[in-house]
Amino acid sequence: MDFNLTEEHLMIRDAARDFAITELLPGVIERDEKQQFPDELVNKMADLGFMGIMVDPKYGGSGMDTISYVLIMEELSKIDASASVIVSVNNSLVCYGLQAFGSDEQKQKYLMKLATGEYIGAFCLSEPEAGSDATSQRTTAEDRGDHYILNGTKNWITNGGRSDVYLVIAQTHKEKGHKGINAFIVEKGMPGFDIGPKEDKLGIRGSDTHTLQFNDVKVPKENRIGDDGFGFKFAMKTLSGGRIGIAAQALGIAAGAYELALKYSKERKAFDTEIANHQAIAFKLADMATEIEAARHLVMKAAWDKDQGNNYDLSSAMAKLYASKVAMEQTVEAVQIHGGNGFVKEYHVERMMRDAKITQIYEGTSEIQKVVISRSILRD
Ligand code: CAA
Repeated sequence: MDFNLTEEHLMIRDAARDFAITELLPGVIERDEKQQFPDELVNKMADLGFMGIMVDPKYGGSGMDTISYVLIMEELSKIDASASVIVSVNNSLVCYGLQAFGSDEQKQKYLMKLATGEYIGAFCLSEPEAGSDATSQRTTAEDRGDHYILNGTKNWITNGGRSDVYLVIAQTHKEKGHKGINAFIVEKGMPGFDIGPKEDKLGIRGSDTHTLQFNDVKVPKENRIGDDGFGFKFAMKTLSGGRIGIAAQALGIAAGAYELALKYSKERKAFDTEIANHQAIAFKLADMATEIEAARHLVMKAAWDKDQGNNYDLSSAMAKLYASKVAMEQTVEAVQIHGGNGFVKEYHVERMMRDAKITQIYEGTSEIQKVVISRSILRD
């Protein structure tokens, strides 16, 4: 067992940290306020290889491991969780889904552009009545021989308005339940594919979240991912990796808020001394540091499992469940340590508290992670 990061991992982490501080930090409050998608910054992240971190270089990716991915996600999320979710969805849901399960033609046509950042991708599973209950897909994909006809609605889709490529889950054989579900690659601009208005959100306001409508959208058969009926397994397998990315995002939000609280507590004075000298604050910092380190271990373990080729359904669910809880609880503490200033936008921690909440909801709510974990431990 070795808890040390390699020289290469340290370099990758430092590159992500530098980028986050010099590029993401300056406009982060304004982007949050205006719900502004960071177009230019996404291009810069693509230049650094952050849009296709784990993709094989032969498909235009950076060829890094999952440990590198979570290090990058943590550093970006310390500063801007809106930017990091764009990276997370593109990498672990869209690029990974295509790299692991797409045909060679699909990889040549779509993965190359997604990995280099020329394209952005979205993952479309959730529906008005199929959020946690993901097998209850109402979106239909009717088999018409050489193509499918898609009809239905998808909700809360990250990168929804900005993407070029959408991986869409739909029901083809209703009588077969989840075994009749398929996954498709849908391109922006296909006739009948409409993007609804942008959601006005509590947090991660710089990310772009939309409802999508599919009205008789004709999708060529070669755009189906995997065999007929593979769509639900595709979604579940892909989401297991996605949950590592969101766990790392949650870790980064918590760690970012902690670092600000630590700094503030050494500067702010009350009762003639820095507030860090009051045990009430010092003990909060001790709890924060401990909880964050525990979350980091779970996140790293899940990433390591994936890199080793181990099953990571359980470790990714545990990492996401715990890191998102830590993010929510410790950002509230960071606001508390900042007192009145914590309630003010320029101190950043109120945004982090708002951003933390979504990590307990998307890519499987905390309750769904407990379903996955309890089924796994009861089965073993
Ligand atoms: N890998 C492979 N197969 C899996 C799997 C996995 N990780 N998890 C489940 N399956 C398979 C099961 O083996 C089963 O197949 P068989 O019948 O052949 O054995 C099939 O999938 C159905 O599984 P269940 O019987 O367990 O189905 P269920 O309905 O009881 O529960 C669930 C499944 C775990 C609750 C699932 O519905 C789930 O994860 N729900 C949450 C969905 C979710 O995470 N949504 C997030 C949306 S995406 C998003 O947020 C992206 C974004 O924009 C940020």
